[in-house]
Amino acid sequence: MGVPQATQSLGAGPDGLTQAATLLRAGEVVAFPTETVYGLGAMATSSEAVAKIFAAKNRPQFNPLIAHVASVDRAEALIELPPRGRALARALWPGPLTLVGTLRPGKGISDLARAGLPTLALRVPDHPVAQALLRAVGKPLAAPSANLSGQLSPTRPGDVLEGLDGRIAAVLDGGTCTVGLESTVIGFEDGDLIMLRPGGVTVERIYEITGQRPRPPSGKGIVAPGQLTSHYAPRSPIQLNVAVPDPDGPSIGFGAVGGPINLSPTGDLAEAATNLYAALRTADGMAQGRPIQVAPIPSEGLGLAINDRLARAAAPRE
Ligand code: TXA
Ligand code: MG
Repeated sequence: MGVPQATQSLGAGPDGLTQAATLLRAGEVVAFPTETVYGLGAMATSSEAVAKIFAAKNRPQFNPLIAHVASVDRAEALIELPPRGRALARALWPGPLTLVGTLRPGKGISDLARAGLPTLALRVPDHPVAQALLRAVGKPLAAPSANLSGQLSPTRPGDVLEGLDGRIAAVLDGGTCTVGLESTVIGFEDGDLIMLRPGGVTVERIYEITGQRPRPPSGKGIVAPGQLTSHYAPRSPIQLNVAVPDPDGPSIGFGAVGGPINLSPTGDLAEAATNLYAALRTADGMAQGRPIQVAPIPSEGLGLAINDRLARAAAPRE
C-alpha cells in the first residue's frame, strides 16, 4: 500500500509542467500523458522513487518498467542495440515503440526499475507534454501504464484518477491519448527481433523497416516477465468474436456489427485502437453483471494488438 495523499490535477501549461517536474525531481510519482496511454512516472535513477510506482499500482516487483527519454540520442546513450534495433529506433522514435536493449554500464538506472534484469526497456514518446516533461526533468522516467495492476490502461486523465486518486502526487492533463494502446515491445536474440508485446507499431511496419517479422521469445534468451494472461481486465465477463450481439446488452461493435458502443463504424483499426479502453470502461459501467459482447476485429495491422488486449481482458482472472 502506498501512503494516502492528495492527488493534484495539473494543467499542461508552463506552471503545471514546472510543478510536475519539481515533484518528480523530489522523488514523487506523477501520471503524465503519452500518445499511447497515460504513464505513471518516477525518476528511473532512484529506487526509492521507483518503489512508489510499484506501491501505488500494487504491481508485482518481478515485472520491470519501461524507461522514457526525450530523444533517440539519449536512448542510445543508455542501451546498446543490434543493427535492426537501431534501424527501428531511427525510423520510429519518437513513437509507440519500446526497445529492450543491453544497459550500458554506469548509467545509474535503478535495479528495481529493471526487476534486476541486465536489460532496459526504453521508449521515446511522441507527445508534446511527455516531451516537455522529460526535457524539464532531464533524467529518464520509469513509467508503466497509470492504472492499478491488472486493470484497464488509462487514456484520459479521469481514468487515471478513477484508479489512483489519493495514491499518487499528481496527474498532468494532456487530454485523450491518440494511439490508445500501449507501445509495441521488441527485444532481441542474436540480433533477431523478438515480439514481447504487440502494440501501437504494427508488425507490417516493422517488416518494412527491417525486412524481418518479430518472432516469439525462444525461452532461452530474452524474457518477457509480467505477461500475465489476465490483464487489462474490466469487471464484467467478456465474450469475443460475437457477430450478432444481443441488441439490449452492453456490446461493443466494430464496422457493420453495431452495438450501443462502436469502436469504429467505418471499420478503421486506428480509430478502434484509440477508442478501445474507453469503450471497455463504458461497457463495464452499463453491464450490471451481463457479459460484454465484442464484435470480430480483423487481426491485421493494429488489429493484432487490439485482439491481444481483448484476449487478455476475456481470460480467466487469477
Ligand atoms: O505505451 C506504453 O508502453 C506505456 C506508456 C506509459 O509508455 N507503458 C507501459 O508500461 O505499457 P507497462 O509497465 O504497463 O508495460 C511494460 C512492458 C511489460 O510487459 C514488461 O514486462 C515489459 O514491458 N518490459 C519492461 N522491461 C523489460 C525488460 N527488461 N525485458 C523484457 N520486457 C520488459
Ligand atoms: Mg500496463
